Amino acid sequence: MLETADTTPAEDITTESSTVDPAFRDDVLRGLAEPIPAILARWLYDRRGSELFDDITRLEAYYPTRTETALLTRIMPEIAAALPPGMAVVEFGAGSATKTPLLLDAIHPASYVPIDISGDYLYEAAGVVDERFGQLPVYPVVADFTRDLALPSEIGAQPRLGFFPGSTIGNFVPRSATDLLRHFRALLGTGARLLIGMDRVKSVDRLIAAYDDPERVTAAFNLNLIDRINRELHGTIPPGAFVHEARWNDMLGRIEMHLVAVRNVNFTIEGRAFSFAAGSSIHTENSHKYGERGGRLLLLAGGWTPVAEWTDPAADFALILAEAQPNRFAP
Ligand code: AVI
Repeated sequence: MLETADTTPAEDITTESSTVDPAFRDDVLRGLAEPIPAILARWLYDRRGSELFDDITRLEAYYPTRTETALLTRIMPEIAAALPPGMAVVEFGAGSATKTPLLLDAIHPASYVPIDISGDYLYEAAGVVDERFGQLPVYPVVADFTRDLALPSEIGAQPRLGFFPGSTIGNFVPRSATDLLRHFRALLGTGARLLIGMDRVKSVDRLIAAYDDPERVTAAFNLNLIDRINRELHGTIPPGAFVHEARWNDMLGRIEMHLVAVRNVNFTIEGRAFSFAAGSSIHTENSHKYGERGGRLLLLAGGWTPVAEWTDPAADFALILAEAQPNRFAP
């Protein structure tokens, strides 16, 4: 049952139908003027970027999606045994057509609340779930899940399970990841659980291959940002002036995506002039990888107590079930 959720819309909601998002304009103009030029990774995901990301998830070199899906399939009975029936599943990001049904099938929830900033994507994903689980009330919420938002009042006092797969947490620097986890904790409330996917640290060769695949799909995904700037912000960035690069930053435990200038290049965006020297870059995404202790510590700092953790046999990817920390006096 696809329902219209009774929520207070969050601010900063954008949909594919809006023309130029002022937040995109402001972030790009401000980010490119920084001493280390950077653009927030969220802007990689326009319609084309989201399609390219879908293609990435099917690449041989990009192990996270298939590894997490296989892991979920294997451990689902254990997850179901650890959870009460009748939960409201709140998914942060539009549901994945493969992962979400696995969870909904196993735990028999009372409702499903997918939250995504892209209305188009959200309703498509919610429609897929609705078709498969006809009796399950589905309340899609168009909102930026990093900001204040209200859950649909229809879910009432149902116990909540946050679902945050895909290692999307890795796309936030640890300080923001902690804030986000605390925000989930406040939104879902006392007694809530969180099922979260985290990509593990592994060999640099495999990591680089996953973010710079031979088919060049990740390159197209990164370079699409330049097309988007040119198209939406009257940019004049010459085609071919930047190339995609994936770097492992060992100190910070993360893959970084950059757009690197192949020559000295000058261009304008919304009439403002920018110059990049050959070899300089625009930092476009971080993908943090967490070891066992680091991942658990991040959750603890975000107000969640890990209660169970599973990995695939090669320990490439982890799924962690955590409980909202009670607000209690502690040493
Ligand atoms: C969405 N996110 C978890 C992906 C990742 O692996 O960090 C985004 C991505 N960027 C390049 N490839 C995949």
